[in-house]
Amino acid sequence: MVSRRMVLGAGLGGLALAGAGGVWRVTRVPETAYEPWNPDAATVTDDIRLDAFRHAILAPNPHNRQPWVIRLVGDEEAEISCDLDKRLPATDPFDRQITIGFGTFLEIARIAAAERGFAVDTELFPDGEAQPRLDKRPVARMTFNKSEKPDTDLLFSAITQRRSNKEVYDLSRKISDIQLETVAIDGGSWSTDPQFIGRMRAEILKAIETEMLTHHTNMESVELMRIGYDEIDANPDGIDLGGPMIEAGKLAGQINRGQLADPGSRASQIGREQLAETYGSIPSLFWITTPANTRADQIEAGRQYVRANLHATKLGLSMHPMSQTLQEYEEVSPQYAAVHNLLGAQEGERVQMLARIGYGPMIGPSPRWPLETHLR
Ligand SMILES: Cc1cc2nc3c(=O)[nH]c(=O)nc-3n(C[C@H](O)[C@H](O)[C@H](O)COP(=O)(O)O)c2cc1C
Repeated sequence: MVSRRMVLGAGLGGLALAGAGGVWRVTRVPETAYEPWNPDAATVTDDIRLDAFRHAILAPNPHNRQPWVIRLVGDEEAEISCDLDKRLPATDPFDRQITIGFGTFLEIARIAAAERGFAVDTELFPDGEAQPRLDKRPVARMTFNKSEKPDTDLLFSAITQRRSNKEVYDLSRKISDIQLETVAIDGGSWSTDPQFIGRMRAEILKAIETEMLTHHTNMESVELMRIGYDEIDANPDGIDLGGPMIEAGKLAGQINRGQLADPGSRASQIGREQLAETYGSIPSLFWITTPANTRADQIEAGRQYVRANLHATKLGLSMHPMSQTLQEYEEVSPQYAAVHNLLGAQEGERVQMLARIGYGPMIGPSPRWPLETHLR
């Protein structure tokens, strides 16, 4: 199994290992950060809501911020709201992507509840739609009802296997139309056309480079980096840089936040080169466009995206969202316009998600805070 996001470390590897001077650290793994990925190991409770949320916290979400705040109400309801400190104001100024990450959460909660024989009634923004940014009001109010005919879903078994796979994909392996039709069966569009992908790739690469060379957007990522396993265990969220090479590079003083914040540093340059390689390896493209850009559209995009990601998982396909061209800050507006144009978005329509799909190496899960930390 290839450890996640060792890309940066791999580039610095040889030197770093020589400088590390010891092996105990480079063989360490995080001890607690992945425990939530075994939701069935948790103490069984009679409260179906906790069971559903134990799965929902495994949902994909931007920069792995896990902004979900859960308030249990009475015996059957739960109110879900946003931890406002976990938003991403530089790259997500209107909380659009954060809201998509509530859509993924709600859909997984629904699938997990159905597995236990419960139907979920979800009212979105019950106290009003938060605009232009999210606020303290709930994103959703959920009611769990025992059901004779729960809407059980074959995707349940993929919840703990799902990943965002950010590695290089195998470009020699073709993805068939039927596979992509299955991935997009609950929403979304796809293409395997090399010419089209080539034009999209140019915009995608320009946008990721812009994000890394623009001070405030780069710093938003740098501040969320968890470098090495001790930082990952201490804060199991954000951008986790783990693996033996990272441990060694960190120990040798070659990887630290200061260097990653400096676009001129060797570490930052290697980071950009390696992101260009991974973001550029695109066997096929998948995207989700909504008719408008309401909060309900964003939630729906999240539902569709996580279903696509779960379908892909079942087919043995890897998937990686690449959101840089879809963001609303000024420096990236040319790529925003180009991608909306290339993807055929009509007036008022909004491309919410863009991802590559292909065959990637097997990877482990990303860190998660335990369920208890989300409960209020
Ligand atoms: C709305 C949204 C946007 C995302 N954008 C990106 C992105 O631009 N680049 C990226 O590498 N991952 C992106 N991701 C994936 C998250 O980083 C990932 O879901 C998170 O780190 C948790 O990892 P996991 O999906 O493997 O559990 C996005 C996810 C969501 C829901």
